[in-house]
Amino acid sequence: MAIKTIKAPATKFSLAYGRPFDLNAYRGALSVSGYAAIALDFADKGEVLLKLVNQLSLGAPHSHDHSGRQVWDVKYDSSIDQQTGTRSHTLREFPMHTDASFEVPPPQYVALYVVHEDRLGGGITQLLDSKSFWPALSLESKETLSKSFFTITVPAEFRQFAGQETVSVPLLDAFGNFRFRHELLVFEKLSPMQLTAVDELQLLLNNEQWFLSFNLPRQTILLIDNGRMFHARTRVLDSERHLLRMRFD
Ligand SMILES: [Fe+2]
Repeated sequence: MAIKTIKAPATKFSLAYGRPFDLNAYRGALSVSGYAAIALDFADKGEVLLKLVNQLSLGAPHSHDHSGRQVWDVKYDSSIDQQTGTRSHTLREFPMHTDASFEVPPPQYVALYVVHEDRLGGGITQLLDSKSFWPALSLESKETLSKSFFTITVPAEFRQFAGQETVSVPLLDAFGNFRFRHELLVFEKLSPMQLTAVDELQLLLNNEQWFLSFNLPRQTILLIDNGRMFHARTRVLDSERHLLRMRFD
């Protein structure tokens, strides 16, 4: 008898100049695998990214601040303090996190476009599918993460926009979506049970056996389900590395 194998759908696509988006394929990859990578054969200044996000119809783009910008630069800025400044303008490594964990609700999707890749091999994007570690996360921690409220700091650059300095929210919703950026948690306001749950989650997020690594070349768009997939990056080595980022839901 022939053995039937179930093939996972594609997550990598290419797009030639002037061709239409394969929207159903990208949506399918996002839904089944949590991400989709699209290699363009032309350079984009953000217009194609914006058009794609609008045509995907998975939600409206978020403005990043009170200026109303929807496309944001992720690029080193030498005038920014490397320890305390907006981290997307630093060369720092980012540990596993979800984006905008302080937003209510957080964006379901993130789109990145590579304007200039890191020519020195740094800035490698890593994804971790929460479905990989879900069975290893204890029931107690799932309860605590989903039923209790954690205090999260709103970063200074978003505070005026958000209108508050902290938010108090569960880190896991009823649909299995996480919101998590360790350094933004206000630890002195966490109960012992919450601290235990955060420690357990963080330990799972450090397990590199589940990491998917992407050395994304320029002209690649990466779509990520931000509630399901944690993401990280290695330290940036090339100060010219430049990504565009959108958040939407
Ligand atoms: Fe991020």
